Amino acid sequence: MSRRRIIAGNWKMNMTPSQAAELCATLKDLVKNDNVDVVYCVPAIDIVPVAEAVKGTNVKVGAENFYIEDKGAYTGEISAPMLKDAGVEYVIIGHSERREYFKEDDAFLNAKVKKAFEAGLTPILCCGESLELREMDAYLDWIRLQIKSDLVGITADQVKTLVIAYEPIWAIGTGKTASADQAQEVCKAIRDCIAEMYDAPTAEAVRIQYGGSMNAGNAAELLSKPDIDGGLIGGAALKPDFGQIVNA
Ligand code: 13P
Repeated sequence: MSRRRIIAGNWKMNMTPSQAAELCATLKDLVKNDNVDVVYCVPAIDIVPVAEAVKGTNVKVGAENFYIEDKGAYTGEISAPMLKDAGVEYVIIGHSERREYFKEDDAFLNAKVKKAFEAGLTPILCCGESLELREMDAYLDWIRLQIKSDLVGITADQVKTLVIAYEPIWAIGTGKTASADQAQEVCKAIRDCIAEMYDAPTAEAVRIQYGGSMNAGNAAELLSKPDIDGGLIGGAALKPDFGQIVNA
């Protein structure tokens, strides 16, 4: 198994451009690690200053959102080619906050995945269940459905480069982490789903992260699981703790 680990911060709607540059400077030495891909997924307005601040380091820049058209009369939106030109390599797609607050459905998310690949960006595709679905024991079926719907028309070669983030909604920003066994169960189910949809080599190649109250204290145990290849980190990505997670 030779999947390279990937630790990504999702800054969400935090950090002004000047705060962003300061945070990059604070984290610079703490996140050094040649064996891990380190990504900062940042608000659109922070992309240019962050790209500048991480130049020459091991940190890659990610975006949190974009619109599915390349250009045109879509006031307020940013396109995938714009992100690419600004130095972005990764983009989060399907985060539960966008599904819930901005009503992004699976058909739209599938279009975003296609557009990201077309523009040369690597999607970090998020999936995850509500507490209700977990308590009904319907979470694995739900997650398989999300993955299948979001990857319609995506080729095996594309999926091999994809990052999938399992983020149980009940664990996001709540301080309540899935146990390492719970996270492993779902990450393995996602990999099995990819094997079913494509083939074993594709499933072996796709990188799967866990996200949801991951922190310096619980990262090592989560990352010790065979199907957890990294983390997508919210709150702890804005603090020096992020360096501890990278090196966990
Ligand atoms: P927290 O780490 O703050 O729980 O957020 C997780 C998340 O939503 C990352 O995308």
